[in-house]
Amino acid sequence: MKFFVDTADIGEIRELADTGLLDGVTTNPSLIAKSGRDFFEVITEISQAVEGPVSAEVAATDFDTMLAEGRKLAGIADNIAVKVPLTRAGLKTCKALSGDGVKVNVTLCFSANQAILAAKAGASFISPFVGRLDDIAMDGMGLIEDICNVYANYPKFTTEVLVASIRSPKDILESARMGADVATIPPNVLWSLFEHPLTDKGLAAFLSDWKKTGQSIL
Ligand code: G3P
Repeated sequence: MKFFVDTADIGEIRELADTGLLDGVTTNPSLIAKSGRDFFEVITEISQAVEGPVSAEVAATDFDTMLAEGRKLAGIADNIAVKVPLTRAGLKTCKALSGDGVKVNVTLCFSANQAILAAKAGASFISPFVGRLDDIAMDGMGLIEDICNVYANYPKFTTEVLVASIRSPKDILESARMGADVATIPPNVLWSLFEHPLTDKGLAAFLSDWKKTGQSIL
């Protein structure tokens, strides 16, 4: 399973990239606004900080402008994935950009039927939003299961299931159990995956016992 981080904070991204375990980055207009930075400047920096795909989202809603924006964003770096909303114009843009060899991440997916449309439009990634469904008492993880099962019936679909709007480590484990390709994870949740109190307790005991031996490895 690939791990992307869902942020436009370059400091967090660099720290996570340093672990060697970060496979990509997703941003959206809200995350860009939160960063308080210039869109092109921040996306350029992120695309240089990580090797994997970096999602940058269009801001228009009509096909012609979305296509022009998508082409401009794709020109920033080879690892840009243009993010478009799951609308009629968004999918038309997806089809045009993917036909040009540009990676496209189709976002704001809330149904398996929408995910089928995105795959047919040649999306590299489909982003179903788990947390926002759970927030309205619907079954976010059920949607991931549905999409994984449907895509498995059609081996010609190359679209990767990118689980978005993740709220907790549990969402990640359940997505992995279902065979989702990618999870895009808020930085704090990603860091929390490394932690376990028994790891800390066990390490403290090993270090204390090692000290008693009086030996050193180097
Ligand atoms: O970037 C898309 C998605 O991950 C947003 O998540 O937490 O705003 O629902 P959230």
